[in-house]
Amino acid sequence: MKKPIIAGNWKMYNTISQSCDLASQLVESLSLVKDVEVIICPPFTSLSEVTKIIKNTNIRLGAQNIYFEKEGAYTGEISPLMVKDVGCDYAIVGHSERRKYINEDNPLVNLKVRTTLEAGLYPIMCVGESLEEREKGVHEEIVYIHVTGGLLGLSEEEVKKVIIAYEPVWAIGTGKTATPLDAQSMHKFIRNTLSKMYNEDIANSVRILYGGSVKPENIKSLMAESEIDGALVGGASLTASSFERIVKFME
Ligand code: 13P
Repeated sequence: MKKPIIAGNWKMYNTISQSCDLASQLVESLSLVKDVEVIICPPFTSLSEVTKIIKNTNIRLGAQNIYFEKEGAYTGEISPLMVKDVGCDYAIVGHSERRKYINEDNPLVNLKVRTTLEAGLYPIMCVGESLEEREKGVHEEIVYIHVTGGLLGLSEEEVKKVIIAYEPVWAIGTGKTATPLDAQSMHKFIRNTLSKMYNEDIANSVRILYGGSVKPENIKSLMAESEIDGALVGGASLTASSFERIVKFME
């Protein structure tokens, strides 16, 4: 049985003091949770303070992005070694907002996944189709390209460390969630793709999260699906009480 993961992506919200307040509230409400891997991904500017607050607790830290080189003359970029140094164990890679606004493509996502792994971090690689692609019926093709492109060249040992987040773009921040069955069916498709790329054991060991308008009201029904190993939560991770209810699968 894989341990479920609930990860909060705070996106470009929260000053340092707001981040510290939220992290402190989460430490208080989630300190007894043992059966869920809880990850929070604050903005870069808050990492060094939040890391102190969650030290020696069950809450893990993730970065929202990293650069694909470990160091060098790359003004404004942040190395995976730097986020590791500040206390992160995870890094989100290829989020749809970066694919859309910063033009990140699959080869770049692949480079980032590789560097993240080399730095000793677990990548949370986001994949997912747009509304237009879903309406055209090409959602599986798109997700296939995201998965195979993002994982290109990874060894079996490496791919086992990757966490995949299926986030249909049309469900992000819109209040529209994929139905648990839609999500289950895409997760199954991703699992089959992994099985073809590697083998069934590897495919079963990779954790696949769902993301897109996850709320306390829908977490239970999503988690009831056998292929859904957890959630990547945006908006509802910005309030301690709603994130707590999601982590505890409470409506
Ligand atoms: P929402 O939960 O706000 O829809 O965001 C999902 C997401 O993009 C998490 O990475």
